[in-house]
Amino acid sequence: MKILVTGGAGYIGSHTVLQLLEKGYEVVVFDNLSNSSEEALKRVEKITGKKVKFYKADMCVPEDLEKIFSENPGIDSVIHFAGLKAVAVSVSQPVEYYKNNICGTLNLIEAMKKYNVKNFIFSSSATVYGVPAELPITESCPKGTCTNPYGWTKWMIEQILTDVQTANPDWNVILLRYFNPVGAHESGMIGEDPQGVPNNLTPYIAQVAVGRRPHLNVNGNDYNTPDGTGVRDYIHVVDLAAGHIKALEKISEMSGGVKVYNLGTGKGSSVFEVLHAYERAVGHELPYVIAPRRPGDTDACYADASLAERELGWKAEKDLDDMCRDSWNWQSKNPYGYSGKPE
Ligand code: NAD
Ligand code: UFG
Repeated sequence: MKILVTGGAGYIGSHTVLQLLEKGYEVVVFDNLSNSSEEALKRVEKITGKKVKFYKADMCVPEDLEKIFSENPGIDSVIHFAGLKAVAVSVSQPVEYYKNNICGTLNLIEAMKKYNVKNFIFSSSATVYGVPAELPITESCPKGTCTNPYGWTKWMIEQILTDVQTANPDWNVILLRYFNPVGAHESGMIGEDPQGVPNNLTPYIAQVAVGRRPHLNVNGNDYNTPDGTGVRDYIHVVDLAAGHIKALEKISEMSGGVKVYNLGTGKGSSVFEVLHAYERAVGHELPYVIAPRRPGDTDACYADASLAERELGWKAEKDLDDMCRDSWNWQSKNPYGYSGKPE
């Protein structure tokens, strides 16, 4: 079965491509490499011993999509990872974010319609819940008010895909709402490689551990949580990638409709719990300072992931210590990521 993976050179995409190849799927990947390196896919090929058909292409350029679909007849499903994801940048550059994420997705939908491809799996986010109305968060929890343009693009693309499915009842759409993906493949050959200063917690801790940053800034210790620091649902990227394989199996059984699944572990961990798990992985304490809260952050956010277990037969298997061990394995082997060069 032939699967098109957009944004497949990125962090979650590369881990998913690896599992698709291992499961025997034929994989076509495109990525404009705006936030990734082709080296990730070369390493996926090394790990699996299989070839990836790769296009350096931009979803905002309809001709690029035309070339990919026309040269690869018989695509069964699209897994759509491509997008810009830096929350703070989206606040200062909203037009770029709306243009890239929304226009790119609209172009992709149009190309799929032209080439009669009807199965769409979308990388959404727990960010669509805004300040969650309930904990743990079920899929029927109302979508909230997003605090940044990035979050709104996820919210809007979910709506666009729902409307497209209504207009095309034979389309099958699965919206996967990820919680906080962390960790790396156990080989340490692929992992998260943020450009510039990391926005997210574990890549930041990883760079402190490897000596690239002096200390972690713990953003707020006065939240309404057991130790005062923010609580999130961290999920190992390998478990998350496996969720996409299960979603593909599900989509092949659907006969028109939209399904929504949370992909999380169901367990919340605080910033201090993550820091201490990372210290166990590294084998020594790591420096931190208490810093101000980040605007827009909430106290706690964690999933009820039981629907994915019931309907997809998927459950996260790895715990926080596994996530930190694998993150550290990647970071210590690749202190400067894929390029190997200091910024
Ligand atoms: P990533 O940045 O590593 O991967 C996204 C990829 O899309 C990158 O390789 C980038 O080069 C590519 N891309 C961006 N714009 C493109 C365009 N116009 N045309 C072609 N390629 C383009 O991010 P990731 O963490 O792997 O995230 C994958 C998806 O999951 C994204 O849509 C992201 O918003 C979503 N998501 C991520 C998280 C997270 O915390 N990592 C959480 C929830 C949802
Ligand atoms: N944090 C720190 N210091 C840092 C970075 C983060 O203390 O240097 C704290 C935050 O305040 C928060 C927790 O660590 O309490 C997690 O922060 P992240 O930035 O790692 O993750 P978020 O939950 O804020 O956001 C992530 C993605 C979003 C996505 C959301 C839900 O960045 O894109 O998960 O999926 F929408």
